[in-house]
Amino acid sequence: MLFVLPHASLLKTCHHQKKKCVGYLPKYVKFSLPWTEKFGIVKNCARMSDTDRQVSDSYGKLGRDRAPSDIIATQLSVLDQARSFKSACIVGATGFVGQYLVLLLARAGVELTIVTRDVAKAKAIFAKYERRGQSLQYCELSSSHRSHNEILKTCFSKKDAIVNLAGAPIAGRRWTETYKEQLISSRVRVTQKIVEVIKTMDKEERPKVLVNASAVGYYGVSDSKEFDETSPPGDDFLAVLCRRWESAAQQLDQSFGTRVVILRFGIVIGSGGGVLGSMTPIFQMFLGGPVGTGRQWISWIQVMDLVSLIIHSITNENMFGVYNACSPAPVTMSDFCNTLGKIIGRPSWIPVPAVVIRTILGEGSIVVLDGQRVYPSRTLAAGFHFQYPDIRSALEASVRIH
Ligand SMILES: NC(=O)c1ccc[n+]([C@@H]2O[C@H](COP(=O)([O-])OP(=O)(O)OC[C@H]3O[C@@H](n4cnc5c(N)ncnc54)[C@H](OP(=O)(O)O)[C@@H]3O)[C@@H](O)[C@H]2O)c1
Repeated sequence: MLFVLPHASLLKTCHHQKKKCVGYLPKYVKFSLPWTEKFGIVKNCARMSDTDRQVSDSYGKLGRDRAPSDIIATQLSVLDQARSFKSACIVGATGFVGQYLVLLLARAGVELTIVTRDVAKAKAIFAKYERRGQSLQYCELSSSHRSHNEILKTCFSKKDAIVNLAGAPIAGRRWTETYKEQLISSRVRVTQKIVEVIKTMDKEERPKVLVNASAVGYYGVSDSKEFDETSPPGDDFLAVLCRRWESAAQQLDQSFGTRVVILRFGIVIGSGGGVLGSMTPIFQMFLGGPVGTGRQWISWIQVMDLVSLIIHSITNENMFGVYNACSPAPVTMSDFCNTLGKIIGRPSWIPVPAVVIRTILGEGSIVVLDGQRVYPSRTLAAGFHFQYPDIRSALEASVRIH
């Protein structure tokens, strides 16, 4: 693990407010470095109620971090929303987004079934819930098992929601023809399977809603255009993949009685994985900088906003069809890197030339070298409130000192 000095402005916030911190929750309450506790910088600040602590422990991938008070407030309202339904099946729950979703739903007491290709791996990831006495159900996602559809049918029966997050990793891999096939089948075939199973169920047993992931890659790439949910699809590999992925979910039309919500995820920002999982260590080593021209757009969403939006989609019966799951304020790659650098106290001065990325990733370089500026018109119209609408607050909430 990298040793990282605490960011000066964080220290100042807490140290400066040392006296005021007692009895209420300051903006930042914990550093993991032992000497901060020794000098009383942390101790005096960390006064939280038991409820706040419980909720804040569910924030941060492994509960290592305590959350700022505004996050806790949001989490409490999201928890309340999540308590309004009883059961959910999550496909792809062991991934970056899925683990956050499971943390929150388990905390809200929702009965969860984890649908995974590897039950043993999933059990290891979620073992902490068993230790806390929260029991999760597991269901194997297998294409070879003959009676598999029957098993899935039992898993899905009478569930309030199915959330489908499955898909082989898109970023950071060279897209060979074989891998492209895997990118497609892991999304399109898995979604087709889910839909096929739901269609064969008795109407009264069908889940109430299917929330299916997609991506803003649906729109193709552009430095100049702005897209919203009404924009037409692009024609590059990712756009075609998203179109097929969404079309597989939309085969479940309203006559089947299961509402379908498709969320086009932007780049997901959160601690413990995703884009920050790969960028933060590079910045910490003073080697950070924009990739390619720096002018490409990044449409992004903070992971807790994404989890809230998934829950909002489950509980809001008026939501159906496609919604952009990205903040209303996309940024360019340069702005993203400059903000990240400032927040972790590192410069953003070493650009990575496009040719290097193209050589390493081939066609897959499109994910970092090109982007799209996407606006969540329908999401906002559906009454969703982004807790992190701007990149600074999203990165501040996500970048943690471990
Ligand atoms: N993170 C982002 O920035 C972002 C942006 C846009 C869209 N998305 C999409 O949103 C979804 C969730 O994102 P994420 O970051 O949580 O993804 P992730 O961490 O890569 O996890 C996705 C899950 O999909 C399952 N999976 C992986 N390879 C598979 C395969 N070959 N066949 C079937 N299932 C497979 C795995 O679950 P098991 O091993 O348990 O089966 C894995 O935990 C993904 O579909 C992703 O493409 C993500």
